Amino acid sequence: MIRFGICGFGYWGPNLFRNLNTHAEIEVTAVADRSEARRHQARSVKQDLKLCEDAIEMIERADVDAVAVATPVATHFDIAAHALRHGKHVLVEKPLCESGKQAEELIALADSKNVALLVDHVYVFHPAVRLLKKLLAANELGTVSYFDSLRVNLGLFQPDVNVLWDLAPHDFSILDFLFDEDPTYIEATGYSHVHPERPDIAFVTAHYKSRMIAHVNLSWMSPVKVRRTAIGGSKKMVVWDDMNNEEKIKIYNSGIELRPEEQRHIHYRIGDIYSPRVQQGEALGGLVQETYRAITGDRRSVIDGRHGLRVVRMLESAQIALAASMATARKAMGQVT
Ligand SMILES: NC(=O)c1ccc[n+]([C@@H]2O[C@H](COP(=O)([O-])OP(=O)(O)OC[C@H]3O[C@@H](n4cnc5c(N)ncnc54)[C@H](O)[C@@H]3O)[C@@H](O)[C@H]2O)c1
Repeated sequence: MIRFGICGFGYWGPNLFRNLNTHAEIEVTAVADRSEARRHQARSVKQDLKLCEDAIEMIERADVDAVAVATPVATHFDIAAHALRHGKHVLVEKPLCESGKQAEELIALADSKNVALLVDHVYVFHPAVRLLKKLLAANELGTVSYFDSLRVNLGLFQPDVNVLWDLAPHDFSILDFLFDEDPTYIEATGYSHVHPERPDIAFVTAHYKSRMIAHVNLSWMSPVKVRRTAIGGSKKMVVWDDMNNEEKIKIYNSGIELRPEEQRHIHYRIGDIYSPRVQQGEALGGLVQETYRAITGDRRSVIDGRHGLRVVRMLESAQIALAASMATARKAMGQVT
């Protein structure tokens, strides 16, 4: 039995609790949260939980073998590093931490203590993402030319991170899982409408050596929640609409063919549309199963520290591009007015 302690019982912590505690070989024994109300909430879901005000105190408990970190992003590194130094397995919420340098330190600590370091990139376990991975592995789509994602909603405005660090970890982790390739160049732009220093809309474009281009539209300012990703291949194209429970994935037997020998160079192939059944089930359950597997067996995982590092590196590159683009736009607007 793996005994888990959860740091942070705010919005996401209870979801981790529910999924961890329903695993047959895992028991959540402790919860740490600075807020008395949140500790009280934790007590109401499991009477015998050890409750701590402080993450450090909880990590050091002998009845905690593994720690899940569901606190604000700025605290991830310190809490995870402390747990790893104490030889505890660690599952950190997305994003793993605030910089590539911090991620490298966490990986080195986990390696030196021979414990698991995992990051909750829950979409990697989403049945639709698993189906996309199968289609790509079987070369059903052909050569992929683009990945285009729309991830928008009204809020939730985060107090500590901008829209890029809040939402892009989902798309970047999906890209990292689906395509065995790091981007060569990332562009980004955006705007801060509400908090002057915290963009609430961001458009990110990643370029890949394979000639794939990935675009991610992130927003806390949309009247409707949209979670839609299109992937275009030379053979087929796919649209994954996560808000559609009936036809989550549609595969279009459509494409563009270039025939240079003919007068009309471009030919459009418009074929059948097929919607395979996407399994139901909570992705977090799959992530918990993978966490258990990595703790009890091979530490390498599709959501391990190295995967977390690649995602953080993408975030860092996008953040640099976003800040530069916003500064240029501000300057230009200052010249106009
Ligand atoms: N995987 C996902 O889909 C997903 C979804 C939402 C949030 N998250 C992630 O979960 C993390 C938490 O987000 P949230 O929305 O639950 O935030 P939240 O503010 O609702 O909850 C954070 C909790 O941590 C507590 N806390 C803060 N510092 C602490 C410390 N040092 N020790 C103990 N407790 C502390 C706070 O009191 C609060 O109750 C973030 O990293 C976020 O990115 C992931």
